[in-house]
Amino acid sequence: MRILVTGGAGYIGSHTVCQLIARGHEVTVFDSLVYGHRQAVPAERLVVGDLRDIDHVDNLLVVNRIEAVIHFAAFAYVGESVTNPAKYYTNNLLYSLQLLDRCRRVGVQKFVFSSTCATYGEPQKVPITEDEKQLPVNPYGNTKLALERALSDYASAYPFGYCALRYFNAAGAAEDGSIGEDHNPETHLIPIVFQAAMGKRAHVEIFGTDYPTPDGTCIRDYIHVDDLALAHILALDKIAPGTKLAYNVGIGRGYSVREVIRGAEEVSGLKVPVKEGPRRAGDPPSLVANAEKIHRELGWKPKYADLRAILETAWRWHKSHPNGFGE
Ligand code: NAD
Ligand code: UFG
Repeated sequence: MRILVTGGAGYIGSHTVCQLIARGHEVTVFDSLVYGHRQAVPAERLVVGDLRDIDHVDNLLVVNRIEAVIHFAAFAYVGESVTNPAKYYTNNLLYSLQLLDRCRRVGVQKFVFSSTCATYGEPQKVPITEDEKQLPVNPYGNTKLALERALSDYASAYPFGYCALRYFNAAGAAEDGSIGEDHNPETHLIPIVFQAAMGKRAHVEIFGTDYPTPDGTCIRDYIHVDDLALAHILALDKIAPGTKLAYNVGIGRGYSVREVIRGAEEVSGLKVPVKEGPRRAGDPPSLVANAEKIHRELGWKPKYADLRAILETAWRWHKSHPNGFGE
C-alpha cells in the first residue's frame, strides 16, 4: 500500500515506519522534525515539512498516489496544552482537520489516527472499555476527541473510513536497540527513570504518593511501542469506506510508579535515586485498558505482555544511546 505517515520521525511513528517498510509498503514520512529525529527513519523516505503547509501535503498525496494516511503528527505535552491551548488547537486540531479534508478531496479512503486514553479523562470504570464516556480533562485530550468526532462524521458522509487507536502509555524500544524514545524535553516516566539510574538526572520525582492505589502511586498500562506499531498495520487492512473503528491499545495490566522504578532497577542493576513529591495536576490515579475489542476484531495480541519485557528493551536503548539520537 502507498502510505503517508505524518509525524513518522517521532517515537511511535518511527517504530511503525520500520514495520511498514519490512512488510513491503511504500512509505512516505512527513515530519517537521520539531520533535522528531532525522536518524530515526531511512533518509530516502523522509520529507521534511510542516502540516501547516497543507499544499505541500496535498502535493505529496497526489504525486505519490497515497492510498492511506497514518496520522501521528501532534504535540503531546499535556501540561503545556493547559497553559498554551492555542498551540494544541492549531497543530493537533486545525492542521489535522485540513489534512483530513485534503484526504477527502483527493480520494484517500483510509486513515489511522493516534488517539489517546486521555480522551477518557477520569474514567468511571477501570479497566476501561471503548464505550466508556469520553470526557477529557485537558486541551490535549479535547483536541484528540474532536478529531475522532470529525473522522466519524466524515466516514458517515463520504467514501472514507478510519481507525482511531487510543494508546495507553507507549514505552520500550526496538528489540535491536536501533531506535527508541528520545523526547526533548522528556516528561515520560520510563526514560526519566533510566536517566536517573545513569546519573543523567539527580533523581526521579514521584508525582504523588497518596493516591487510592495499593502503594499510593499512580497506575498506568505501559504498552510496547512495537506492539502499538503492529496495531496500525492490522487496522489498515480492516478499513474500507464507511468503516468507523476505535480501539484501546494497552496490555490490560497496570503498574504503579514505584513498580516501574523497581523494575528499572532490576533490569539495569543500578540504583534509581528517588524523591517523593506532590501530585501532578490532571493525573488520574489509574488508567488501564480493556483491550478485548482489538484482540477480538483485529487479532492483535501484545508480544511484550509484561512490564519487565518492555523495560528490558527500553534499557538496551538508553544504555547504548545515553544522549538519545544525539549520540
Ligand atoms: P513524538 O513527538 O515523538 O512524535 C510526533 C511527531 O510529529 C514528531 O516527530 C514531530 O516533529 C511531528 N510533528 C508535530 N507537529 C507536526 C506538524 N505540524 N507537521 C509535521 N510534523 C509534526 O510523539 P509520540 O510519542 O511518538 O506520539 C505520536 C502520537 O501519538 C501523537 O499524536 C501523540 O499525541 C499520540 N500519543 C502518544 C502517547 C505516548 O505515550 N507517547 C500516548 C497517547 C497518544
Ligand atoms: N510520573 C512521575 N514522575 C515523572 C514522570 C511521570 O511520577 O517524572 C508519573 C506520572 O504522574 C504518571 C506516570 O508516571 O502517573 C506516567 O506518566 P507519563 O508522563 O509517563 O505518562 P502520562 O500517563 O502522563 O501520559 C501518557 C502519554 C500522553 C497521553 C497520556 C494519557 O504521554 O500522551 O498518557 O493519560 F495522553
